[in-house]
Parts: sequence; structure tokens; C-alpha cells
Amino acid sequence: MRGISLSRFLIDEQWQKHAIPSDLRLLVEVVARAVKAISINVGKGALAGVLGDAGTGNVQGEAQKKLDVIANEILLEANEWGGHLAAMASEEMEHPHAIPHRFPKGEYLLLFDPLDGSSNIDVNVSVGTIFSVLQCPEGVDPESEQAFLQPGTRQVCAGFAVYGPSTVLVLTMGHGVHAFTLDREIGSFTLTREDIRIPEDTKEFSINASNQRFWEPPMKRYVDELLAGKDGPRGKDFNMRWVASMVADVYRILTRGGIFMYPRDTRDPSKPGRLRLMYEANPMAMIIEQAGGAATTGRERILDVVPTSLHQRTAVLLGSKNEVELATRYHHG
Ligand code: F6P
Repeated sequence: MRGISLSRFLIDEQWQKHAIPSDLRLLVEVVARAVKAISINVGKGALAGVLGDAGTGNVQGEAQKKLDVIANEILLEANEWGGHLAAMASEEMEHPHAIPHRFPKGEYLLLFDPLDGSSNIDVNVSVGTIFSVLQCPEGVDPESEQAFLQPGTRQVCAGFAVYGPSTVLVLTMGHGVHAFTLDREIGSFTLTREDIRIPEDTKEFSINASNQRFWEPPMKRYVDELLAGKDGPRGKDFNMRWVASMVADVYRILTRGGIFMYPRDTRDPSKPGRLRLMYEANPMAMIIEQAGGAATTGRERILDVVPTSLHQRTAVLLGSKNEVELATRYHHG
């Protein structure tokens, strides 16, 4: 199957395997088209004048970059008119985005972080797009926040793109994880990794250690033991990597294993973690679990968290199964 286009892959999923309905196929095709457009903008960088601040803030009070705004607009515009969506929600918008009345509507809800890792845009380091797809519950107004407040176990599809040296789209529709590389010459995504599996053990971890003094005791204990290496209770040395773009850190874990952590900390009591549950943690957790890894908040499985608000934050521990389970056991202990 390697070497086939994303379109061919999706058609096989629909017709040969009966694994996805045609509307979901269409939705993924449209998101992939938007990802291509974002990739082109990211790739042009300073030539297109897309770097730097937009001069506005998002709902979380974070300064928006020009590319945050551009990527958000590309995703909204591409997905409005296809007839496959009931509504959309984005990190960059306080409320759900309604499908304009002039367009047909469908049964899915699309959530996205249009440009993850925006602190890396201006320094020419990999950034990405993360998305999650839910079904709109019957009898609920699709434009209400309520429609989106479903646990991650209900996702029917999740994916992310990394705009790095090459643009890679990672996708799951609940039957394994596959990666597609953008062939810039022909303008289409090609299947380059099929049924990705994450090694259960690892010697690599990923955390922003500058927050160490704010971590809870179980996280301090876990990381101290990793740092102690061969001389400590783990009896082996660990390496550390932190890109500060979750998409790149997760793609590395999908490639050679590892554990990624953005734990709960005491910096701001109103924020239990930095990452957003609905459009960052949930889609990544679905992908990681589908690839044989684990994803928890330290206390519970991320996919089981019942959301209470669209932009809520959560702690995230994900990656190689045995490490995530150990760090989670420390939290329970
Ligand atoms: O907002 C999400 C994000 O940019 C992630 O992609 C990344 O892992 C994290 O925040 C980086 O956080 P920090 O700036 O604290 O290292």
C-alpha cells in the first residue's frame, strides 16, 4: 500500500474495508487540502510577509501570530461549503463557528488548533495543525458549545500535520495510524508509513524543564529518576528532547518512541496544565493509543475525560506505554 495517494487510501477505506462513510472521506480530503494551503504559506515565510505578530489576541489571552490567523481562515473557508460539517471550533475562536446558511450541512463537528507551536514560527522551526472529528449528537444545537463537549473516546477521526523539512499528515480513523508525506511536485499526499507502532519502552523524554519548580511531587520524582540515569533506580541513561511544538515532539515519538509530558503545575491555579483538551490532547491521545502507546493526565486516561468547556486545559503524559504507565502509577501512589 505504501506509495498510494491519500485519495486512493481513503477510497479503499470506504469501499474495500467499509471502515468509513463517504462524508468522513470527504471531510478528510478537505482538511488535507487546507493543510496543503497552510504548508505553502508556512514554507514561504518572510517572502510572503506572513511572519510576526498579528497584533490581536485569542480567547486564551495569547498574542496571535499572523500565521495563526491565516491558518484559521484557511481551515474555516475550506470546510464551510462541503456539506459534511454541522459546525467547527478552533483554538483561535471563543465560540463555535456556524456553517453559513447558504451552504448544506452535515453530521460532523470539526475542532482544530490551526497552528500548533506558534512560538516556533518566527525562528523557522517545525509547527503544525491538529484536528479532531466528532459526530454531532442528535437533538443538540450544533452551534452550541454543548454539542462539542464529548469525551475523546467519541472521536471518529483525529490527525495532525507537521510543517517541517517535509510536510507530513498523520491520520487515524480508529483503525491504526498512517502517515502521508506531501509530494510538493505533484501536490498530493502519498502514504509513506502504514500502521505505525510506538515501541513500548524508551530512553527518551520530552518536557519543558524550566517549569520544574512548579510540578507536583509525583512528576518531580519521575523526572528526577530519569535524570539520575544509570546511577539511579531506573538503571539506564535517558536522553531529553523538547521542540516546543507538540506536533514535532509527538511525530518523533511515533517514529522512535519516547514520553512527552506537559504536566499539571502550580503556576496558575486556574489552568490545570497548558495544553487544550478538545483540539490538542484528545486528537493526540487517540493517535497515540491507536499506535499502541498510552495517554493520561497523570490521573486518568485522557480520552475518558468528560469536558466541561470548549477551551479547557489538561495535563498531558503520552507516548511509550511502559513509561506513561509508570509515571501515572507515581501519581496514583
Ligand atoms: O500551545 C501548545 C504548545 O505550543 C505545544 O505545541 C508545545 O508543546 C507547548 O505549547 C510549548 O510550551 P512551552 O512554551 O511552555 O515550552
